[in-house]
Amino acid sequence: MTQETSVLTAKPDMAPDVAPIRKVFVKTYGCQMNVYDSDRMTDALAKDGYVSTDVMEDADLVLLNTCHIREKAAEKVYSALGRLRDLKKKKAGEGREMMIGVAGCVAQAEGDEILRRAPAVDLVIGPQTYHRLPEALKRVKRGERVLETDYAIEDKFEHLPAPDKAKTKARGVTAFLTVQEGCDKFCTFCVVPYTRGSEVSRPVAQIVAEAQKLVDGGVREITLLGQNVNAWHGTGPDGAKWGLGELLHRLTAIEGLARLRYTTSHPRDMDDSLIEAHRDLPQLMPYLHLPIQSGSNRILKAMNRRHTTAEYIALIALIKAARPDLALSGDFIVGFPGETDEDFEDTLRLVETVGYAQAFSFKYSTRPGTPGADLEDQVPEDVKAKRLERLQTLLLKQQNEFAQACIGKTIDLLLEKPGRMPGQLIGRSPWLQSVNVDAMSSQIGDIIRVRITGAGPNSLFAEVVS
Ligand code: 5AD
Ligand code: SF4
Repeated sequence: MTQETSVLTAKPDMAPDVAPIRKVFVKTYGCQMNVYDSDRMTDALAKDGYVSTDVMEDADLVLLNTCHIREKAAEKVYSALGRLRDLKKKKAGEGREMMIGVAGCVAQAEGDEILRRAPAVDLVIGPQTYHRLPEALKRVKRGERVLETDYAIEDKFEHLPAPDKAKTKARGVTAFLTVQEGCDKFCTFCVVPYTRGSEVSRPVAQIVAEAQKLVDGGVREITLLGQNVNAWHGTGPDGAKWGLGELLHRLTAIEGLARLRYTTSHPRDMDDSLIEAHRDLPQLMPYLHLPIQSGSNRILKAMNRRHTTAEYIALIALIKAARPDLALSGDFIVGFPGETDEDFEDTLRLVETVGYAQAFSFKYSTRPGTPGADLEDQVPEDVKAKRLERLQTLLLKQQNEFAQACIGKTIDLLLEKPGRMPGQLIGRSPWLQSVNVDAMSSQIGDIIRVRITGAGPNSLFAEVVS
């Protein structure tokens, strides 16, 4: 599963000069894969003359790219749809048409329900059918309310346009690239196997071609995405199945591609060749998101995670032996059904043992249709809240300690974007921290040596080392 962000992905894009200009506003909820998907949808619409806008009121089409991972995520969508209904009505009064589309995992899981609950919605489209978006919009124009949530037989990636140079340049020097989608693990709390379907791996040639295009457009760092990215097994040019370690090796042959990351991984799928890639590839950043969810073996079993805490700890030791400067990030769920105080104490102990540079933690949220929803012994909300607070206090302490330990180190910094003050840029450390440094905007995309001089709550400060 990919990590949660909430980003506005509407950015000015170039349009071909043939079709009339129409504007699309995309609001992205949830994980990095949704960020990637929003860009692919925008690219697919460009052929029909759509350009992105970041002003919702100006849009001819508003697309919500939704997330279903926890309850609150879906509720946010319904309240956004309420506001959009009012905007649509207002614009109709002014003689301007506005279409409303719902994409993403809520669309996949609750397509019919959305059309029923939100009459202003014109189109519901699930993640496996984004390549059919232009066609679906034509049907909307003909007066249909469209529901596209079947799993497509054709390969959507073969039909979705890869990013072109101009768009890539506008999007910055770091990029996401989906290599794997879906999940066959069926953790008992998780909707992903139902919303994103079973695991599909893109073939090597497709991935390499897209990575090359990104690099041609100025990208220096690519994060390979997959709900279960280290389960990726794509067909290589030799016809054999490759593993992620081999794919990473291949990608390092792309000149100008300075950094690689991948997310999110399952502990069961860290094979030897991937661990060796951490040892052998300096381009592979020493930072790994490896969720365990709970520190209690009993709860891990109930979650169907299919490994123990001891196995997780041993695995981390192996990876760190391969790449000693590697730092970890993780995900945790508190209050899974049946979680006792003792189970929760085990989670705190595990966090103390492992030590995380960063981690995300959530209260368990019952997801309809998942096995967890039917379990007895649901944990009361107030108990979940107290546990979450304790866990987050500990994780935040570890994050601060990690940042403090960076002070005095000399590191490579990828300069990404303008900073808060003129004459400053924000760059990214190997461990994904934001770092402020004095530099010129012409240096965006460069990797420079800096010394970390200080640490704030959300970012580090650095000076250039000559
Ligand atoms: N309740 C709470 N958190 C969840 N996650 C996934 N499903 C649920 C749920 N039902 C968390 C997991 C996962 C992260 C992306 O979201 O920690 O790794
Ligand atoms: Fe969900 Fe588990 Fe699959 Fe991750 S591995 S996407 S948590 S079912």
